[in-house]
Amino acid sequence: MWSTARRRELTLLAAGQPWLPGLLLLGGFARPIRKVPALGWFVADPLVARQIYNDSTHFSIVSEGAAGHWWAQVIGDWVEDLFEGPGHTQLRTTVRDLFTLTHTDALVQRVLGADLRGLRDRLAAGETVDIATRAQILVGRSVSDLVGMRPEDISAAIGGDHTDDLDALFLRLFHHVEELVNLAFGTMASTTLDPVAVARARALAARLAVNVPTAYEHAAPDTTLGRCRELGLAVEHAAGLAILMAVAGTDTLASAMTRMVAIMHDSDQHRALLTAPDRVPDAVREILRVTSPAYLVGRSVTADVRIAGRDLRAGEHVKILTWTINNAVGGFDIHRDYVPETRQLWFGGGRHLCLGAQLVHSELTALLESLIATGRPWEVVERRYRRKVFIPTYETLRIRLV
Ligand code: HEM
Repeated sequence: MWSTARRRELTLLAAGQPWLPGLLLLGGFARPIRKVPALGWFVADPLVARQIYNDSTHFSIVSEGAAGHWWAQVIGDWVEDLFEGPGHTQLRTTVRDLFTLTHTDALVQRVLGADLRGLRDRLAAGETVDIATRAQILVGRSVSDLVGMRPEDISAAIGGDHTDDLDALFLRLFHHVEELVNLAFGTMASTTLDPVAVARARALAARLAVNVPTAYEHAAPDTTLGRCRELGLAVEHAAGLAILMAVAGTDTLASAMTRMVAIMHDSDQHRALLTAPDRVPDAVREILRVTSPAYLVGRSVTADVRIAGRDLRAGEHVKILTWTINNAVGGFDIHRDYVPETRQLWFGGGRHLCLGAQLVHSELTALLESLIATGRPWEVVERRYRRKVFIPTYETLRIRLV
């Protein structure tokens, strides 16, 4: 029997993509690894997943069937080096310190602090707030800052007046990025895009990066673009990186933020958290585990290999069922301690482990802390699921304090 929180999560997944809950639930039968005709190998075991993530001799992120292949068609073949070649190691080394907890906590306080205090005060004053919209704005603000794009750079790219209404600007940014992400629909069997999708994706990416050359000149050294400039990375490569960062860190994080507020309420564990605020880090980890917004991660097999007793052949695809693996542990529980088996598989693993992981922790923590700072539980007064989106999330989640 599913809990209310689990049922609503499954409804949310189905609104995004009707077949998704079925795939992710049935995926459990693939444990540890099972071949599905026309789709490839499904992996539903944490140890096998980690083995694949750590094996860059036999598995690739840039060949057909994996994310890097999708990106190469949109941004150019040079991203293969950024994802897998020496450029990948250089990139991670270059920006590593921008993604430490000290840096991301400071970023969140500086960029989102006032907004989050405003949220707390509005709720405390009895207002109803749409968390779905607020999360989209917060994420737009933080990713732009991290990349080194100022509001004027964003408005040059996607239109609108940056001096007038910043919330509206960052909402438009969210929708722009979401449209780009949604072009990944239909990539289950193959990551080769049709010409129409390639043209649209290129147009959206190019528009997003229209002001990167200017931002590249001015960006502070502790931003991604500033760091690229100091290292002498070509501006067009810096532009590609800015787009990648925006795409990787927008929908996933906005989804996790909104679903966190919903699940805390639906499981009634917001009340428990109010009396045990020291469990906030556990609540955040648990939210990432049960939501696993990057629900499936692809790899392609580049050389024959035997994994968990199965023979995988070069050219085949692998799909790591992140959501399925993480949810096999059980339902959301703020009193659950760290699970060594899954570790943080919601962020992938190996050399491609999510670069934004600490930023995610900082933002989810800051949002949750601003809610519990009101000292009262909240109720959901309106809930609508977003339809036909690659990363399922809420359209609306209006809450007020009780
Ligand atoms: C809840 C939110 C997020 C989740 C669940 C998530 C999940 C993931 C996963 C599973 C991967 C590995 C993909 C693979 O191996 O193919 C990844 C990679 C990555 N993520 Fe995240 N991510 C989130 C937010 C962010 C944010 C906020 C940023 C930055 C602003 C970010 C930047 C990246 C980058 C740059 C990579 C590629 C790393 C590499 O290839 O070395 N992510 N993410």
